[in-house]
Amino acid sequence: MKTMPLVFSAVLLLMSIACDRPSRREAEQAATLTGGGNARLGRTEIRKYGCNNCHEISGVPGARGLIGPPLDGIGQRYYIAGELPNTPDNLMLWIAHPRHVEPHTAMPEMGVTEQDSRDIAAYLYTLR
Ligand code: HEC
Repeated sequence: MKTMPLVFSAVLLLMSIACDRPSRREAEQAATLTGGGNARLGRTEIRKYGCNNCHEISGVPGARGLIGPPLDGIGQRYYIAGELPNTPDNLMLWIAHPRHVEPHTAMPEMGVTEQDSRDIAAYLYTLR
């Protein structure tokens, strides 16, 4: 039974590694793509604005919303909301002002600042 504490700490270690998303490399790539977005801050800001209420978003606790589409793999998609070609600038535009793009979309204007939309876009681009 002496192995129990060892197994337990190994499990804790693995859990903390799994939760340490995005990795430094993913965060750096996302920063380059978005012109300086901070993916780790973005993950926190997603909860601040309540994106998790409507979207399923990996790595964000409680993000199981089903009103909007799941955001995994958004970096691989061709269009954003079926409207805008998927470029970093367009993703930030959509996050900050979805109703400027599509006046009747169910996604609300949430007053997301320019810097926060950059950080959030960076986080979304780390999702596979
Ligand atoms: C009230 C629900 C709601 C909230 C809150 C919300 N969204 Fe959305 N979101 C939607 C809906 C609905 C769509 C689909 C819009 C469409 O296609 O017209 C969408 C679409 C999107 C898309 C495009 C997805 C795709 O597959 O093309 C992204 C990216 C996105 N939302 C990000 C966010 C972020 C980031 C936040 C928080 C700042 C957020 N959303 C908050 C409902 C919401």
